[in-house]
Amino acid sequence: MKLLIANGPNLNLTGMREPQIYGSDTLATINSEIMGKFPDVGFEFFQTNSEGELIDKIQSVEKQGLDGVVLNAGALTHYSIALRDAIAAIKKPVVEVHLSQVFAREEFRRKSTISEVCKGTITGFGKFSYFAAVFALTESLRK
Ligand code: DQA
Repeated sequence: MKLLIANGPNLNLTGMREPQIYGSDTLATINSEIMGKFPDVGFEFFQTNSEGELIDKIQSVEKQGLDGVVLNAGALTHYSIALRDAIAAIKKPVVEVHLSQVFAREEFRRKSTISEVCKGTITGFGKFSYFAAVFALTESLRK
């Protein structure tokens, strides 16, 4: 089994930006912890600040032989209909994750354009959101 762990705009700054909201672990640390916790799963890690690149990556999931996606789309979550359409266009499951509890923050973060086309959403557990998403996705793909 191989999963794509995809991160959108500004997630490259995780660990440095607003650590009181997003935590002090870097994305590289989170990614290596994911590999350590799920040694039987293959991973591709991807981060971009560009909406188009993220859409291209989602479109390529099946062609690349990936089984599913854990996606933190950052702020694109709240306004990108193009990203939503890309997720809807592929047959592989996508799990939406957020480090912060988006429903306890500003009003504009309480809306997601992608939730309806995702298999599930995990939000508010910091880096544990990713671990929970990988666990849930791999278990559901195995059964
Ligand atoms: C985020 C939440 C978004 O609202 C924000 O724009 C981000 C990060 C999170 O992981 O908590 O960039 O997706």
